[in-house]
Amino acid sequence: MITSIAANHAKGKSAQDKIFGANAAAVAAAAKYGADKVTNATIGAILDEDEKLVCLPTIEKVYRGLATNELIAYAPISGLPDYLEKVITAAFGTSRPEGYIAAVATAGGTGVIHHTIWNYMDAGETALTSDWYWGPYKVLCQDMGRKLDTYKMLDENNKYNLPALKAKVNEILGKQKSLLLMINTPAHNPTGYSLSEEDLQGVIDTVSYTHLTLPTIYSVQISVDPVSLQKKQNEAITRYRSKNK
Ligand SMILES: Cc1ncc(COP(=O)(O)O)c(C=O)c1O
Repeated sequence: MITSIAANHAKGKSAQDKIFGANAAAVAAAAKYGADKVTNATIGAILDEDEKLVCLPTIEKVYRGLATNELIAYAPISGLPDYLEKVITAAFGTSRPEGYIAAVATAGGTGVIHHTIWNYMDAGETALTSDWYWGPYKVLCQDMGRKLDTYKMLDENNKYNLPALKAKVNEILGKQKSLLLMINTPAHNPTGYSLSEEDLQGVIDTVSYTHLTLPTIYSVQISVDPVSLQKKQNEAITRYRSKNK
């Protein structure tokens, strides 16, 4: 018998990442049937004609040109000020909105997701993402005592499913005071889908409406009917404007 000293909630934990799993299967199939018989388009890495991993020459040059001290020294925990300013510029470009904006460095993309879940969701609340999603979203939510719900990402014509997003946003905001919505674009993992400008505008409209209805959260109705949803949006906007004159 094996005695585990892991905490009760962590006992027996295991998971296989779908993409790494598919990659392992493709590598095994190439070994078995021949590399010319298998096209491996699983993990997000570029290989050259000799199947060697490609690194962008500029990245390699800058990285290898860094002084050792720059490479090994501690950075401030929240990130170097110059870097943080450049991140904001890169994120907003010429569309930087007026208002308070700050950046903070984290340990990779997973760090961003972790910090966002922890700092923008109360215990027991639900985050939202599409039905195709990067598996660790769920693990991160579960580990921190939060839930993850999904909307159907593509409609029957393989178009981004804004009505499904709107309905879920409305449903969840009928139960909690705010919502963390996770959208992975461009090159969504695992589908590769990128939202078009029109899709993004639709998301912004949904989220702006949500922001406007936040003060009246408990009167938000659950509705999947686009006409009544539009009517409620207009009512919420009128209410918000008259309150904030
Ligand atoms: C959608 C998505 N978010 C976050 C990450 C994690 O990024 P990092 O490796 O920088 O933690 C990945 C990595 O595959 C990803 O696919």
